[in-house]
Amino acid sequence: MEGPGRKLYFLFVCLVILSITFVFIVSDSRGNFTNFHVSLPRNSGKPPNIKAVGMHSDNWSLVDQGFDFDAASMIGNSGGQTPERKDFEMKMKMSRQKGKKKNRKKNKRKRKKKGRKLKKLMSKKNFDSPDDAPRNNVQSPDLKEDNEGWEQRFPNVIIIGAKKCGTRALLQQLAKHSKIASAGQEIHFFDRYYDRGLNWYREQMPFSQPDELILEKTPAYLITKEAPERVYDMVRKFSLNISLIVIVRDPVERIVSDFAQGLEKKKGKSFRRQSLEERVFESDMRKKVDRDANIVQIGLYAEHLERWLRFFPLSQIHVVSGEKLVTKPWEELKAVQEFLNIPVEITKDNFWYNKTKKFYCVKQRAEGVEPKCLGKTKGRKHPKVDVETLRMLRDFYLPYNKKFYELVKRDFEWPE
Ligand code: A3P
Repeated sequence: MEGPGRKLYFLFVCLVILSITFVFIVSDSRGNFTNFHVSLPRNSGKPPNIKAVGMHSDNWSLVDQGFDFDAASMIGNSGGQTPERKDFEMKMKMSRQKGKKKNRKKNKRKRKKKGRKLKKLMSKKNFDSPDDAPRNNVQSPDLKEDNEGWEQRFPNVIIIGAKKCGTRALLQQLAKHSKIASAGQEIHFFDRYYDRGLNWYREQMPFSQPDELILEKTPAYLITKEAPERVYDMVRKFSLNISLIVIVRDPVERIVSDFAQGLEKKKGKSFRRQSLEERVFESDMRKKVDRDANIVQIGLYAEHLERWLRFFPLSQIHVVSGEKLVTKPWEELKAVQEFLNIPVEITKDNFWYNKTKKFYCVKQRAEGVEPKCLGKTKGRKHPKVDVETLRMLRDFYLPYNKKFYELVKRDFEWPE
């Protein structure tokens, strides 16, 4: 080749080299981009941006939305977050992101195929919608065949209440069991987010192995009128073996605890704070307990339980004493493990008493790691309450408490 032809050939070669270099740079940066976008596992027990928010007990809007800050502080060691689960969840996330980018077209075809399969499945099992039908959750091509048993499954243990009775402590302690995987934060599916569908609910659960129990807690379920039937529907639809746990505490103490939380919630806000009396008594004379006030209603345990008993036998419901969970947590935990039919692994040896906090904290598996205590939103100082108010509340709750003892066949010996 000579003259202009040679020059043209040289130019062409340069262009080819330049484009190859360009392609390499772009693909490399895309690879890095993928790596930087590995976010926290959904069920790590950490609400999004909590650290960034940099607030704890003062961020009440998040508390209201069901974010439990003690769950946030327990990332990595509660919510059943074993190193294996963490590894798998991370692997899943990375693989999903890679798969998403590489195989868009392939996935489209797969989705169509999956849709056809689902339709077939629905016609066999009589599901209401594809959303209700169980899915193979592993979307990544690399992991689809080999998910090593890890899947997001419906819970088979639910702590349904009651608010301010020790629900977080119970979940944190149970999550230490090797056969329990727990959702870190309150899901609020059967009360707030029911319209999101059962598939959404399942996707809020941690990845688990087939031999593990999946645990979730949302204290609002106990008092939500529709919750028992909704749980029952799910159980029936998927032939689940469900166990329900209720933790209760002297309803008067519960009110004071709830009230103390409310006070903190309103700290720094300009509007006037209601007194405890304004919240628990009927507005005019302040001589009668207002049974319809939410703060009072929650403690009518017998009424709530009766609603659940219309759908579940007592043998499926275990009641925990909130008082005993504070003084001798291992005893209550033993009964729960027996009820769940799992080996009694969590014993007195797993607890350490924090003299400053005056509560038991859970020892960690790893050596040299400090025991995990709940944060400052649990175990608050209670305000002083007028003796007459306490008297009236005790009198009000007495018949309901007696009825509750009869229903569950256990005397909790709450002050009369
Ligand atoms: P107080 O803050 O009134 O003391 P919940 O998690 O359902 O909101 O319940 C909070 C209550 O859990 C606390 O109420 C506290 O008494 C009780 N609790 C039980 N065991 C605890 C523990 N080990 N650490 C902190 N609080 C615990």
